[in-house]
Amino acid sequence: MIIKPVIKNNICIRVHPLGCKENVKRQIEYVESQESFKGPKNVLIIGGSSGYGLASRISLGFGCKSNTINVSFEVEPKKNKTGTAGWWNNVYFQHYAKKAGLKYKDFVGDAFSLEMKDQVMTYIKKEYGKIDLLIYSLASNRRTDPYTGETYISTLKSINKEVKGYTIDINNELLKEEKMEAATPEEIQNTIKVMGGEDWKIWIDMLDEADLLNEGFKTVAYTYLGSPATYEIYHHGTIGMAKNHLDETAAVMNPILKKKYNGEALISASKAIVTKASVYIPIFPVYGAILYKLMKEAGTHEGEIEQKYRLFKDMIYGEQPIIDEVNRLRPDNLEQDEQLQEKVKEILANINNENLHELSDIKGFISDFMKINGFDFENVDYNEDVDMDALSEIELI
Ligand code: NAI
Repeated sequence: MIIKPVIKNNICIRVHPLGCKENVKRQIEYVESQESFKGPKNVLIIGGSSGYGLASRISLGFGCKSNTINVSFEVEPKKNKTGTAGWWNNVYFQHYAKKAGLKYKDFVGDAFSLEMKDQVMTYIKKEYGKIDLLIYSLASNRRTDPYTGETYISTLKSINKEVKGYTIDINNELLKEEKMEAATPEEIQNTIKVMGGEDWKIWIDMLDEADLLNEGFKTVAYTYLGSPATYEIYHHGTIGMAKNHLDETAAVMNPILKKKYNGEALISASKAIVTKASVYIPIFPVYGAILYKLMKEAGTHEGEIEQKYRLFKDMIYGEQPIIDEVNRLRPDNLEQDEQLQEKVKEILANINNENLHELSDIKGFISDFMKINGFDFENVDYNEDVDMDALSEIELI
């Protein structure tokens, strides 16, 4: 099969397995080119197949030889469907982890369900006894409450008033006018139900009750705070309300974990990057493309792997944490630079289709989008006939 990208509404519905392999390999090479560090032994990652979760898995596996268990929701390839990028990322993480002599395990299915939690706990009990770290890096648009059976859909909306802006039309490399509608109170509550801390706490409570947490156990969930330039669409929007709930959940769990395990529940705010989840947020991609340009010019730009390697090596397991007034870890510190944000705001107010290439790094932004789907790597031959039948036989362990 010759695989070319097919993009609809900023979602790539075809992915390239060999490009996904390259994406995983490059992140591993980055970590291997850095200092190794002393970190956790047994790690459970919820949402470790792409974006920040995958970068966390690679940082810990290849940075400090952690054993990693990943739970992700991915689609395997079938007939002429290429499957999801996260599926191939899992396949190739396993490929390189095996070569490096690391221990790993993948569960593919719904992390919100009790069945999945039971399966993972049975595995932990049998293989490891206890875990030292749980990373919560899930991004989803729906969740079925395992106790009531009710399904909640999250929305990416503003609160109180409609917000107008642009999004990036990836296919045509253009700006497209976009509106973010104001959410109803029910939509806000539903988004909190999906992307808030409820499921994170269920995981921790169940692992605690089953006596699967080690002395010194830590857990971290990822949030985005951004700056005034994005407050209306994120921090003060529906997703921001869900992230506030994540903060509140950490505040509830932290003293309990401290007392029982000398452990901690952490929140880490990350930098805006291109992921499957983030390009879908209305208006956010334009901010991202401007940010990329300015941070690259300033020499402060980081991708997911640089962010997560720094978070674990310097902050969670290191001596250089950057902590804010409510105890969040802040590897997004470089994005927060005031002068940088002033410039972003100014450009956002003036950007249009005539000056788009001059004022933003739209090419770099789109290239990152292509890369997370396995395209745009100069060393992958996209005219090569890919033997999907053979690749589809690879099973995840
Ligand atoms: P992503 O789309 O790359 O990854 C989402 C992960 O969640 C994937 O592994 C996917 O398989 C998994 N997932 C989704 N539904 C699932 C389910 N029902 N069961 C099991 N796994 C499921 O997203 P990204 O951007 O890496 O997001 C991860 C976290 O990082 C989110 O909490 C997000 O808010 C946060 N974050 C992202 C930023 C960004 O710019 N991308 C910035 C700051 C924070």
